Amino acid sequence: MSEIPFAMSPLIVVAMSLMQDQVEAALNSIRPNLIIFDVAHWIPPLARRLGITSIQHSSVGPSSVAHNLVPARNLSKGQHYTELMRPLPGFPSSSIQLQVFEARSIMEFWTRDFIGGMTFHDILLASLRDCDAISMRTCREVGGPYCDYVEIQHGKPVLLSGPSLPDPPTTKLEERWVKWLGGFERGSVVYCALGSVCHLKKEELHELVLGLESTGLPFLAALKPPSGCATMEEVLPQGFQERVKGRGVVHGGWVQQTLILEHPSVGCFITHCGGSSTWESLMNDCQVVVLPQMDDQFFNARLLTEDLKVAVEVKRRDEDGWFTKEDVCMAVKKVMDDNSKVGNELRANHTRWKQVLLRPDLESSYLDGFLQKLFEITKIPPPCHA
Ligand SMILES: *[C@@H]1O[C@H](CO)[C@@H](O)[C@H](O)[C@H]1NC(C)=O
Repeated sequence: MSEIPFAMSPLIVVAMSLMQDQVEAALNSIRPNLIIFDVAHWIPPLARRLGITSIQHSSVGPSSVAHNLVPARNLSKGQHYTELMRPLPGFPSSSIQLQVFEARSIMEFWTRDFIGGMTFHDILLASLRDCDAISMRTCREVGGPYCDYVEIQHGKPVLLSGPSLPDPPTTKLEERWVKWLGGFERGSVVYCALGSVCHLKKEELHELVLGLESTGLPFLAALKPPSGCATMEEVLPQGFQERVKGRGVVHGGWVQQTLILEHPSVGCFITHCGGSSTWESLMNDCQVVVLPQMDDQFFNARLLTEDLKVAVEVKRRDEDGWFTKEDVCMAVKKVMDDNSKVGNELRANHTRWKQVLLRPDLESSYLDGFLQKLFEITKIPPPCHA
């Protein structure tokens, strides 16, 4: 999915569903014990017919699944899941309150016709209904209550694969960034990246970069030019580049995010809260400001601000998500000002979570537990270890 524009992602789901015959033939010859799938509701019935266990793996966060994918039988009479603004009673966090623009944007994607009259929501819900178990990329420490909730709502086991934090990079940061970042004080640079999928509108991009400018701090923003614009230079506000020369860069291409976040000069990370960026934000020492753009990013953002309490969010207008340069500046100042009480508290909370996640045996203990559960579910005796 990462290889194609987000708007075209339904086509992958369609293409996959057109391969059912080939998949069945492959399964018949491989005869696996289990099959792990994501967006393919036709897998569980096929797997069952062949005597194969099926597990739906969710790459989005458990709070998003818990909030958006409630079985119809658990809704009260007349209630529809499109009331995404309000989670059901029993939902673990009362602080996840979607803004109007967030609920609308999720709804637009989830209620679009994907294949044969089924919406994205229908497909995921059917997958969860028919599979033998659900697996999630998280750990109990972070997503526990949501996973318990999903387990109860759907009445089947939820397996946790652990956070699968990225391995430390083996490459080195490009020399030009080493040099540029090296010219600033420790922890002073604001790094802003909104992911490879998001294209801000020109007006939004202006507010964002003007907001960065008005913090007075050095900054590096790695952003995609708005749709229809070839280069960053042609969209930046008038006079902007001259004014921030020497302390601010807006880069229109890809950068080595993990290495930049590790650089000692970088002190603040403005993130869209994509799956990987959310975990990455927890693994380093930067202060975190969230500016989610779509879907599960809204939930990842609330995870960081409301559940873990390690980040602040850029204030947005309820109806359409509009934010101003003042909103951007205010969020950054809140975490970066030396004598900010909130900033210091967030830093302490962040340090605590980082220690939890970087515990040396965290990943391996989750993987061991995951395997153990797979053996239980497939009723295959685990191999004996020497
Ligand atoms: C930091 O975490 C503690 C404990 O969860 C919480 O009470 C506090 O409000 C958090 N600080 C901020 C600024 O969110």
